[in-house]
Amino acid sequence: MEVQLIESIQPIRYFTLAVCIYHLFDTGLFNVFVEDGPSSVHQLANRLALDEEKLQGFLKYLKNEHVLIEENDEFQLSPKGIELGDFRGWYIMMIGGYAETFLQIGSKLKENSGWATRDSMKVGVGSCGISHYDAIPLTQSLMSHIPGECNRLLDLGCGNGLYLVEFCKHYPDIQAWGVEPSEGGYAEAVKLVEAHGLQNRIQLTCSPAIEFFQSDFDYKPDFIVLGFVLHEILGQDGEEGVIRFLTQITDRFPDINIIVIEVDNQIDDLEIMNHGLAKSYYNPYYLLHYFTRQRLETEKYWDKLFASLNLTVQAKERVNHHVDSTDLTIGYLLQRGK
Ligand SMILES: C[S@@+](CC[C@H](N)C(=O)[O-])C[C@H]1O[C@@H](n2cnc3c(N)ncnc32)[C@H](O)[C@@H]1O
Repeated sequence: MEVQLIESIQPIRYFTLAVCIYHLFDTGLFNVFVEDGPSSVHQLANRLALDEEKLQGFLKYLKNEHVLIEENDEFQLSPKGIELGDFRGWYIMMIGGYAETFLQIGSKLKENSGWATRDSMKVGVGSCGISHYDAIPLTQSLMSHIPGECNRLLDLGCGNGLYLVEFCKHYPDIQAWGVEPSEGGYAEAVKLVEAHGLQNRIQLTCSPAIEFFQSDFDYKPDFIVLGFVLHEILGQDGEEGVIRFLTQITDRFPDINIIVIEVDNQIDDLEIMNHGLAKSYYNPYYLLHYFTRQRLETEKYWDKLFASLNLTVQAKERVNHHVDSTDLTIGYLLQRGK
């Protein structure tokens, strides 16, 4: 019995661990450990205005999971804990953004039960944190295929604006405009742009992409980025909505370069779904889309849709295999055919 019991409830262990790692980041404790090194519970509680007794339990729990080390009444990050820092974005998006969604699955499986909620701000911030490693380098690589100068970026669904900041830092001549419908995500973008002193190069608008395009904005971009946004619009406005939206873009800017990043929906491919990253990320990622008014589609679907709109694929690339060898995240560089 006991061996089976331990095996069968491992998911409870990992559920709790994922949530606690998220809180380690979200409370600011992780950053304090990085900045201050070993600290007593009293110091940590004082610094972050936390309840000392509860914090004691939280830190001891993480010590038992080898995320923290306790020595001489002080806690610090273990080597495994330090490593987690690179993967903060995955915790912000999947736990901060979607833990509430996963808990609603039972009630939302019922007929006519509508959509589950999510924390859109955390989704945008977490997604950009992940994109730093996959979609932002992919976007940069696609940009290198654009002939001529490419200095006016429009990022639709920009989350916390990380693409805008990273591009402005990397390319000194770039001007950028970010559009984000989530008020929380937009506020985070304003903060990030100010923190980097880039207000003179980056403009921000809080709006859904379609409404923004219907407005009378005074900006002529030479490339538009849609990072994991078309499947949001597909869920919200259907295929008709996506077609209208893409047509609106190319009618207004016939020479525009459009960079689209999407995830190929391969939930039925057992071989791909057996990949380590598919098990730890893409399987839960696919799942949440069924419950949150988003429609993930296959690569074939997007190929066909773009072709039907006379959008020529100038380049199509995958994420660097050192980061993700599933080939499930795809980047397109599109331009309207002449
Ligand atoms: C998965 S996140 C992607 C964030 C960022 N573009 C990236 O590549 O990491 C999807 C973003 O699209 C935004 N979004 C949702 N519906 C949208 C719409 N109709 N128009 C523009 N953005 C939208 C969300 O608020 C969220 O910030």
